[in-house]
Amino acid sequence: MSAGSGCACRISRRRLIGAAGAAGAAALGAAACGSQDEGPEPYDALRGTVVAQTSEIPVGGGSVVIDGKLVVTQPKEGDFKAFSAVCTHAGCTVQEVETTVNCLCHGSRFDVATGEVRSGPANRPLEELSITVDGTDIVLDEKPPRGGQGS
Ligand code: FES
Repeated sequence: MSAGSGCACRISRRRLIGAAGAAGAAALGAAACGSQDEGPEPYDALRGTVVAQTSEIPVGGGSVVIDGKLVVTQPKEGDFKAFSAVCTHAGCTVQEVETTVNCLCHGSRFDVATGEVRSGPANRPLEELSITVDGTDIVLDEKPPRGGQGS
């Protein structure tokens, strides 16, 4: 199990509503949450690099790695998956992996094999990312061409 950061987006919006009014808060809040725009994702700088060792990822579960940027799971022995750690509900970083990937902000749980929602409030799966296992290294693949899978 690994711990990550809390939901900065939700807190920022509340504070901004009081300081800047609802319209300004919505614009600033959207800019603060990376999943709201087309900019680079937190894991993009990690593409082509080793993000975990196979020995670090428990069978039937997984770990939040690289300071909460990615979730790497091993649903069955030798079968590794990677997902964005950004919760699809409101943008928190998922904080722990047990038999599901758990977002503690509001309680969403995601399947360790597919990233699909097991329980809400999230209603969209975690973004799956393409990885390659090279010996004991788990490498986040380079970004596929525009229109390809995994981006
Ligand atoms: S942000 Fe994850 S459950 Fe709300």
